[in-house]
Amino acid sequence: MSIVAANWKMNGVKLVDSFALVRKVTDFVKKNKPACDVVIFPPFTMLGFIKEELYESGLKLGAQDCHFADNGAYTGDISSAMIKELGCEYVIVGHSERRSYHSETNDIICKKAESAHKHGIKTIICVGESIEERKKGKVLKILKKQVTESLPSGTNSDNTIIAYEPIWAIGTGVIPKSEEIAEAHEYINKLSGLKVIYGGSVKAANAKDLSVIKGVEGMLVGGASLDANEFCNIIGVYVNG
Ligand code: PGA
Repeated sequence: MSIVAANWKMNGVKLVDSFALVRKVTDFVKKNKPACDVVIFPPFTMLGFIKEELYESGLKLGAQDCHFADNGAYTGDISSAMIKELGCEYVIVGHSERRSYHSETNDIICKKAESAHKHGIKTIICVGESIEERKKGKVLKILKKQVTESLPSGTNSDNTIIAYEPIWAIGTGVIPKSEEIAEAHEYINKLSGLKVIYGGSVKAANAKDLSVIKGVEGMLVGGASLDANEFCNIIGVYVNG
């Protein structure tokens, strides 16, 4: 089953607006029954509320990050045990924004994923190259390092999905060529045996074309997941008939 994930990032300050967005998406999913899993990743503050909205709709709930420890003196952090308690089935780890703004290394990401797996939470582990790395022809080398160093032992296709997100495609409106995406996905899948989804400027306008690229088993959507119509049209790519 393909997966379409909505990464709201640090957006949706007003609960009332977030409810309205989620309700439109749940209505669409209930009515159209897309052949994909749909997972919503709101900010931590909304997890408890959004969970109620997802109830009985078949949509799944995820958190955008987790700490690697269960609890302790980590001011401002949230553990995988805590997000499990709130009903999260998924967590994103290693997003490039976490890697760059919070200096997260492959080693930290590996520990976070291990903690999530321990609590029965599925991980979406993000990997992807910078534009400089692509220009220097280092894409596969970078992906190999990120994939091999970020996956804990105990990783399997039931508990982990990889998101290939070229950093230069995130929030820029620029996406790689189809053959570049296919090459990266095939490489990651061969290396890990895991499902690979694509992220970076996914929009309703390019979702159909992206969905048919070999090795693309779903999408991680940022900006376009904040607009109900846009996001429903992306999910709509997986509605049969
Ligand atoms: P974008 O973000 O869809 O806004 O490019 C994707 C992501 O960062 O996961």
